[in-house]
Amino acid sequence: MGKRTIAPGGRIEGEVTLPGDKSISHRYAIIGALAEGTTEISNYASAADCHSTLECLRRLGIEVQSNKGDVRIAGRGLDGLKEPRKTLDAENSGSTRRMLAGVLAGQPFNSKITGDDSLRRRPMRRVVEPLRQMGAEIEASEGDRAPLEIRGGKLHAIDYTPPTPSAQVKSAVLFAGLYADGATTVHESVATRDHTELALREFGAHVETIGGTVRIHPRPKLIARKLDVPGDLSTAMFLIGATLVLPESSLMLHNVGLNPTRARVLDFLSSIGASIRIPSLQARDGELVGDVSIRHAPLEGGAISGTQVAEMIDELPMLAALGPFTKKGIEIHDAHELRVKESDRVRTIAEGLRAMGARVEEFPDGLRVEGHSTGKLRGGKVDPAGDHRIAMALAVAAMGAEENTVIGDAECVGVSFPEFFSTMERLRGAEVK
Ligand code: S3P
Repeated sequence: MGKRTIAPGGRIEGEVTLPGDKSISHRYAIIGALAEGTTEISNYASAADCHSTLECLRRLGIEVQSNKGDVRIAGRGLDGLKEPRKTLDAENSGSTRRMLAGVLAGQPFNSKITGDDSLRRRPMRRVVEPLRQMGAEIEASEGDRAPLEIRGGKLHAIDYTPPTPSAQVKSAVLFAGLYADGATTVHESVATRDHTELALREFGAHVETIGGTVRIHPRPKLIARKLDVPGDLSTAMFLIGATLVLPESSLMLHNVGLNPTRARVLDFLSSIGASIRIPSLQARDGELVGDVSIRHAPLEGGAISGTQVAEMIDELPMLAALGPFTKKGIEIHDAHELRVKESDRVRTIAEGLRAMGARVEEFPDGLRVEGHSTGKLRGGKVDPAGDHRIAMALAVAAMGAEENTVIGDAECVGVSFPEFFSTMERLRGAEVK
C-alpha cells in the first residue's frame, strides 16, 4: 500500500458495523485457551495485533481456527499450555506481550517473547516488576525491554498498586493471579478498562471488584464460552472524527462497545459541542453494547488532563487532530504515557499536524493544538512513524484541509483497522489513492 493521498472535502453519510474490539478480542482468545472446551468467538477483531495473539497461542500448543471474524479456540485448561519450541512474536502488539507475560509467569516451562522494533523499544519494567514479585524469573534486555525470557512456576499472591495506571499491567497481574497461592489484588487510582475482569467472570473465575480494588482467586475452573465481540469504539473514533471534521456529515454506528471505562470520550466530545445520541443500549456477555449516532456540529475545543488521560488514552491522537477544527483548540496535559505508545505520540501527532499547517506547542506531558481562529489546515506530506492511530488521525485531519495530504507508510493502519481507508471511502464517497 505504501503511501496514500487524501483529498479534502466530501461529507460522511451512512451506517457502519465495526470490526470487533481489539482489547476484548485479545482477552477472549487468551482466556479461551486456558478454559476447558472450545470457545467460539464471533466478530473477532480484524486488527493484526489480535492475530499476533492467536499466533502466540498456537505456538503454546493451542489449536486455533480463524475464518474472517469467526475464531474457535480449543482450550486446554489452566495447565494445558505447552512449552513453545519457537520464540513467541507479539509483533506490534503491546497488549499481547504484556498480558501473555502474566500467563507465561504461571507456566512450569521456559518461554521467550519478543516483538517488532517499536515493541522492543517500549517499557516492560511495569509488568516485569510485579511478576518478579510473584516469583517468576524473568530476563529482559537492558532497561527491562523485550525480548523477555520467562521461567514461570509457583507464584505467590501479591497486593499490587501499579505506579502508572495501565489495563495491560493490571491484566498481566490478574492472569498470573490465576496460578498464585492465594488471592491476588490490584489497586487502581484510575479505573482503567475492565475487560479482563468481566471476561474472566464470564468464563467462571471468581473476581471481586470493590471501588478501585480488583481481587482474583486462584485456580478457577474456566469453562469455554460462545461470545460475540462488540465493535471497537477506539476504532470508531476515527469515523466519529471525520463526521466532526466534515460539515453536514451524519453517521450511525451499530453494535459498538460502550463499556463505561472506554466511553468517556463520548462524554468529552459532547461537552465540547458534538451531537451524539445512543438510541439503543444493552448488556451482552458482561459488556455494554449499543448504537451511536453522530451529527456534525461546531466544536468549542477544550482541555484534557488528570484521570481523563488514562480514560481516553487511545483516543488522544484523534482528539488532538480535531484541534484545528475547534474554536479554542485542544490542550492535553499529564499524558507522559502517550510518549511510550507505538510511537512517541505527542511528538508524531505534533509533527504531523505542523507539517499540515497547524500551530502546535509541545509540552513534556502533552501538547496544545490551536483552533481555527489561527487559520485553516493546509495539508502536506506527513510521516506517521509506523503508528496506526497517528496515520488514521492525520488522515481524518487531512479530509478537512485545503489541499491534498500524502501519508507515508499508510499500511500501518492494519495494526488496528485494516478496513480504515475502504470504510472511509465508502462513507465519504470520495476517492483515496
Ligand atoms: C490496552 C490498554 C492500554 C491501551 C492499549 C490497549 C488494553 O494500554 O493504550 O491500546 O487492551 O489493555 P496501557 O495498559 O499501556 O495503558
